[in-house]
Amino acid sequence: MASRGNFSGRIGFIAAAAGSAVGLGNIWRFPYETGENGGAAFLLIYLICMVLIGFPVMVGEISIGRNTQLNAFGAYKKIGGAKWGLLGYWGILSAVMFLSVYNVIAGWAFAYFVQMVNGTLSATKNFGEHFTSQIADVSDLFFYSLGFMVITAVIVSRGIKKGIESASRILMPALFIMLLGLIGYSFTLDNAMEGVKYYLIPDLSEITFATVYNALGQAFFSLSLGMAALVTYGSYISKKENIVTSAALVTVTDTTVAFLAGLLIFPLVFSQGLSPSEGPGLVFVVLPGIFAGLGTLGPIIGAAFFLLLCFAALTSTISLLEIPVTFLVDEKGYSRTKVVIFTALLVFLIGIPSMLSQGAVDYFSNFAHYEGITKTVLDVVFDIFSDVGLPLGGFLMTIFIATKWKTANFNKELAIGNEGYMGSFMQKYLNFALTIFAPIFLGLMFIITVLKKFFGVNLF
Ligand code: TRP
Repeated sequence: MASRGNFSGRIGFIAAAAGSAVGLGNIWRFPYETGENGGAAFLLIYLICMVLIGFPVMVGEISIGRNTQLNAFGAYKKIGGAKWGLLGYWGILSAVMFLSVYNVIAGWAFAYFVQMVNGTLSATKNFGEHFTSQIADVSDLFFYSLGFMVITAVIVSRGIKKGIESASRILMPALFIMLLGLIGYSFTLDNAMEGVKYYLIPDLSEITFATVYNALGQAFFSLSLGMAALVTYGSYISKKENIVTSAALVTVTDTTVAFLAGLLIFPLVFSQGLSPSEGPGLVFVVLPGIFAGLGTLGPIIGAAFFLLLCFAALTSTISLLEIPVTFLVDEKGYSRTKVVIFTALLVFLIGIPSMLSQGAVDYFSNFAHYEGITKTVLDVVFDIFSDVGLPLGGFLMTIFIATKWKTANFNKELAIGNEGYMGSFMQKYLNFALTIFAPIFLGLMFIITVLKKFFGVNLF
């Protein structure tokens, strides 16, 4: 299938898959989740979830993609028949819905970057109010979200090697360098060490069921699991590659970036005597205030930070858009450019209610009521397609491997490009994790979460 294109090799795949993983999830979501769930205790549980669940599920998805060399739907259908093809459809639908809201938040980051550069943000007196009015400003929202989607579409239309891979190769290292530079700076501030302690010394009494549930959701969000994203990317890697090593590198890169984002943000928050449990506004409310207090350097550091956030988000929106695009190109044979324009536009339109749900339109802003709080459309979409949907997608994928594809075939695929795999500790570990531990754990989490979220039943 030469016409589908391929990653140029190991590094190309890793850069693109890491680019998909590293995103708003690491820099925007991870710090506020950590700040709301007890700091270091959350970090600890998060790391455990990465090793025990995240990494094996990632290996599972990539191996299905490479084995079939097909899009999410085609891959499940080829091995499992029409019924399992539905799981592919679910992945594609999740990606579309997820991207529709993800792009809204990417638009906020884009707006903040521009406002850092042109000085609007530095002139602001009250950052909480600024954030509230910014996310309700209809014309800005349209402009920045649409802008972000257009940039994404242009890159995806250039294809796997020229578009996705080369963008990731430049953006990913740039992101690392900016992050390290900012951390170096944040450590020089007064009280920075208080933040480091909060982040690194766990208080185990903070661990509750909610910690585990949130950490697992964060792991899926951050590693791009559960929506067949990595089945799609896996379909573009060659049989020479070692899947286990590649997945390990992607997991480590993603975890490192999230870890570094925390190491940047908590010293900043504590140096200003602020609270780490600000919620989703953490990055948008707390940080601009901190940058404003830094004198002449403030706007430069602030602009670098929001640029970094945009880069991280861009490599993810690219990969999210690629999921439905690969599907339509593979299955329907339409031209890539046409498919890209159509899908990007569709996703943008689907995202409009979410975009207008942050204060712009009352109906969308007070859309539903559960878990004891009022939910916006944006919350509802993330609840269904991220918090509940991703672990569900992961669960079904593990059931697929265990009962349909069979562990032996999974192992055979992994042994290609990895000579010592058969009989190794890694083989035993992955087999146990994917076919016993993950299905039980994810299945239970799914049931408990649905009961808790939508039926108000708290088992823990
Ligand atoms: N992992 C991305 C982040 O941390 C978000 C994401 C979830 C994603 N699923 C994806 C990106 C699928 C690309 C493809 O922000």
